[in-house]
Amino acid sequence: MTVKVILLWIILARAVYCNASCHSGLDFLQCTEIKWPDFLHDFFSLVLEEDIAQLQWIAITNSKIPTMDYFPRLHSTFNITKLVIENCSLERISEGAFQELEYLQTLDLSHNSLKNIYFIESLPSRLQTIDLSYNRVMYLDNVFHSLKNLKHLSLSHNNLSIVDMNNTIGIRNLNVSFNNISALIGGASSSHYDTIDLSHNNLKTFSEYDLLVRVRDLDISYNKIKQIHAPHTVVLKYSGNKEFNFQLPKLEKLYLSDTPIPKLKESIIELKSFRAEIIQLSNCSITKISKNYFHDFDMGYMDLSYNNIKFIEEGSFSDCKFTNLDLSHSQLKTAQHAFVNMWGYIINLSNNNITNAKNIFSSVSVHYLDISYNPIKVLFKSTFIGCTDMATLILSNCQIEFIERNSFEGLANLEKVDLSHNRIQILEPGTFQNLPVEELILDGNQIHTLRNGSFRNMESLKKLNLSQLCISELDSNTFSDLPALESIDLSRNNISTIPDNLFVNCENLREVFLHGNCLSSFSPFSNKLKIKSISLSFNYTILTSKIANINLNEIKILDSYVPLLKNNSFKGLYNLHTLDCQNVVVEQIEGGAFQTLYNLKDISSKELFKTVKKIKFNTFKGLRSLNDLDLSGLSIVSLETGAFIGLNSLEYLHLDHNNISELNKSTFVGLDSLCTLDLSFNYIGNISSEMLVGIGNLRELYLQNNNISLLNADSLNELPLLEKLSLRNNCLQTLDKELFVNNGDLLWIHLEQNRIKELPVGIFEYLSNLKVLNMSSNKLAIISIGIFSNLKSLEVLDLSNNELVTLEHASAFYSSKNLRRLYLDNNHLKLFDFDRLLTNVNNIEYIGISANKWQCNNLSHVIETLTRHGVSYKEEIKAPMYSNDNIDGIGCIDICKYVYCSHENIEDTLHYY
Ligand SMILES: *[C@@H]1O[C@H](CO)[C@@H](O)[C@H](O)[C@H]1NC(C)=O
Ligand SMILES: *[C@@H]1O[C@H](CO)[C@@H](O)[C@H](O)[C@H]1NC(C)=O
Ligand SMILES: *[C@@H]1O[C@H](CO)[C@@H](O)[C@H](O)[C@H]1NC(C)=O
Ligand SMILES: *[C@@H]1O[C@H](CO)[C@@H](O)[C@H](O)[C@H]1NC(C)=O
Ligand SMILES: *[C@@H]1O[C@H](CO)[C@@H](O)[C@H](O)[C@H]1NC(C)=O
Ligand SMILES: *[C@@H]1O[C@H](CO)[C@@H](O)[C@H](O)[C@H]1NC(C)=O
Ligand SMILES: *[C@@H]1O[C@H](CO)[C@@H](O)[C@H](O)[C@H]1NC(C)=O
Repeated sequence: MTVKVILLWIILARAVYCNASCHSGLDFLQCTEIKWPDFLHDFFSLVLEEDIAQLQWIAITNSKIPTMDYFPRLHSTFNITKLVIENCSLERISEGAFQELEYLQTLDLSHNSLKNIYFIESLPSRLQTIDLSYNRVMYLDNVFHSLKNLKHLSLSHNNLSIVDMNNTIGIRNLNVSFNNISALIGGASSSHYDTIDLSHNNLKTFSEYDLLVRVRDLDISYNKIKQIHAPHTVVLKYSGNKEFNFQLPKLEKLYLSDTPIPKLKESIIELKSFRAEIIQLSNCSITKISKNYFHDFDMGYMDLSYNNIKFIEEGSFSDCKFTNLDLSHSQLKTAQHAFVNMWGYIINLSNNNITNAKNIFSSVSVHYLDISYNPIKVLFKSTFIGCTDMATLILSNCQIEFIERNSFEGLANLEKVDLSHNRIQILEPGTFQNLPVEELILDGNQIHTLRNGSFRNMESLKKLNLSQLCISELDSNTFSDLPALESIDLSRNNISTIPDNLFVNCENLREVFLHGNCLSSFSPFSNKLKIKSISLSFNYTILTSKIANINLNEIKILDSYVPLLKNNSFKGLYNLHTLDCQNVVVEQIEGGAFQTLYNLKDISSKELFKTVKKIKFNTFKGLRSLNDLDLSGLSIVSLETGAFIGLNSLEYLHLDHNNISELNKSTFVGLDSLCTLDLSFNYIGNISSEMLVGIGNLRELYLQNNNISLLNADSLNELPLLEKLSLRNNCLQTLDKELFVNNGDLLWIHLEQNRIKELPVGIFEYLSNLKVLNMSSNKLAIISIGIFSNLKSLEVLDLSNNELVTLEHASAFYSSKNLRRLYLDNNHLKLFDFDRLLTNVNNIEYIGISANKWQCNNLSHVIETLTRHGVSYKEEIKAPMYSNDNIDGIGCIDICKYVYCSHENIEDTLHYY
């Protein structure tokens, strides 16, 4: 086990400890719901170990941090490049708060309550990106001048009303959308932008933008703009002889949505020189597109959706080119001859009022055509003749009742047709014949009967969706012409019988959906077919004999009710890898229910066991390939002896967050490979060695948040390889001297939040590998000399939040030469010989001494000494955290909190008496 992995464990362990939920990888750490500033003590101190040098970004979310005075210096080898403090109710950030993070490039402070942004002036100069969206900033002050590298600034969703562009010099991408901006000033210096998002504001005019020479992406949509002024190069005219003029030579994206432009008039030649990637004219109240308007255009994405266009005159789009033309969501009744010789990769005419599609597309070159949601009752023959490039045709939700034969004639490259949710009752034989269609979607129509020949000559068809068609009977020849078929969906019909040989010619069939039918008999799954996956619904019993097919890899069980899952329910399915259950209720599971599923790797355990209270003997018998079993967060009350027999390969067993109060003897026998057992968040009162027999390979045992009050001398005897043990938050008052006799591999132990008063001498004698010992939040009053004397590998010792009055002598820690972090905060300590400790144990980087009863005069002396010798110390936490007993001056308050001893300063000893 490498050191890195061990330290990563430490991260995760601490994450559990803090009540915060944290999530980490080698280069990031994300925590939510932390308590500030405790978080610093509990978390940063450990996380920021040298060995996890890749840590680059930190995110803190959903917490309460109204003020941020100081973000602590992290270990000097960390180059934190990204910091996120999001949704933390931040109202104030002190100037200089982040100055220690000198490598910071990205700062995300979105979703807070910041009004004042003066802290920006003292941010580290490498910053490139600041996200202040969703705050309460009202003024864009001149605070960015020292950030020479700042390129991206978002202030969207704030309360800005005037923006002085002079204050944003150097910024390339400015996002001030969703504010109340009614005026822009200082525009003369705004020639540096690539992107400006000014959408969703209150701008009434748009002017002085003649110098926006670099801008490529301009969004002024959703304002109250009536007119735009600028010397004209590009002119977009609209009714009443008003015009929008632009001189934006680099413009690639222009967003003008919600700007009223009733009619796009004829012959606007100038717009053609404007080779935009995107022009958005959605929601602009356009009612008409005049003849030849887009004639000969060549553009990227033209968005004309959500207008009131009733007419597109003939030739409006003649001889033009668009990668994406969106005319959806208008009131178009027809567009006959509008697209003559047009080329469009995607054309979207969905959600209009087109009743007849004929003569619209006859000479259009289109790859993807969407005309869904139009009231087209009949699809006439030759509607798409000439559309030889079309690959995808979407005709769903069109009220289509009838499809004339040869409707799809000429579509020589058609790959996908979506006709779902129409009113088709009869599918004429040959409707799709000789088309190269690979996917045909027909679900949600009214085709009760599939006639023979419905899918005649569809040799390329791979995917066929026939779900929700009220089909009650299937003829054994229905699919016999589909040699390429790979997937068929027959779900949610009224099929009761599947005829023999239904798929006999479908040699490529791999996936069959049959759930939501009322199947009583079927035998389509002969072993000659290579079907790998099926979906089914069951009522009362699983029809085991019907699905037995040794080649099946996956079964999906949907919408089913099974009061008792019986012994051997999946008989014969030796190759099943996945048992996927959705919307399934199983009341009880009999022992042996899954036997013979020797290759099962994925079981929907949480769905299958969601109402099961008792896990019975032999329940998992046969599941010898299963590696991970997640039974967490259910309502399990008891586990029978031998409940997990058969899970020979299981490495992870999650039983946390259940209602288990007692463990039986030999509950876990058979789990020979088990590495991790999580029993946290239950009601377990005691742990004895008989309960843990059979899991001698266990490395990690999580018992935090139970009611454990007693551990016997031999409780952990059966776990000789144990490396991680958490007993946090239980009711332990004492520990037996012999408790860890057989656990010499332990690397860390979490015992915090118990009621332990005293540690018996010799308890840690066998733990020469232990790296982390957390005893914080107990009732320890005394640490006996020699108690830590065999903890030669100890790196972190947390004794904070106890009742320690004295540590007798610093020699208590002398044998832990690797000690790096020692927490003594929140005790009753008055004296401690730091000088001798640091001389003897010279790897220490950090000692937490806050909130003790240190005598102030002497502490002042310590600080004096530190200062005189150039020893660095840091107040890491400003909140008063200690009793006032011995404080005799306000100067002291600032000092007593945290002393940071970096190890190059060890020779400048701390005298403290
Ligand atoms: C913001 O954080 C609070 C807890 O402080 C949480 O309840 C809320 O859901 C969070 N909001 C979002 C949008 O995440
Ligand atoms: C952090 O940055 C410094 C200076 O650029 C560099 O010497 C050091 O190697 C970096 N550390 C890491 C872990 O990237
Ligand atoms: C936004 O600013 C206006 C004054 O310009 C103020 O009345 C309003 O309360 C502010 N809104 C918020 C959410 O802070
Ligand atoms: C601006 O911010 C808003 C919301 O924060 C976001 O939706 C939008 O995409 C951003 N604009 C640009 C151009 O990135
Ligand atoms: C913006 O800067 C220019 C040149 O630096 C100056 O002429 C102009 O008055 C400034 N505008 C504002 C509103 O400060
Ligand atoms: C569609 O056209 C019909 C007449 O053909 C009209 O009655 C209906 O209101 C129109 N629907 C919409 C949404 O414009
Ligand atoms: C299950 O049985 C109930 C009642 O007997 C019936 O209403 C339901 O349709 C059946 N479901 C299936 C999938 O057979």
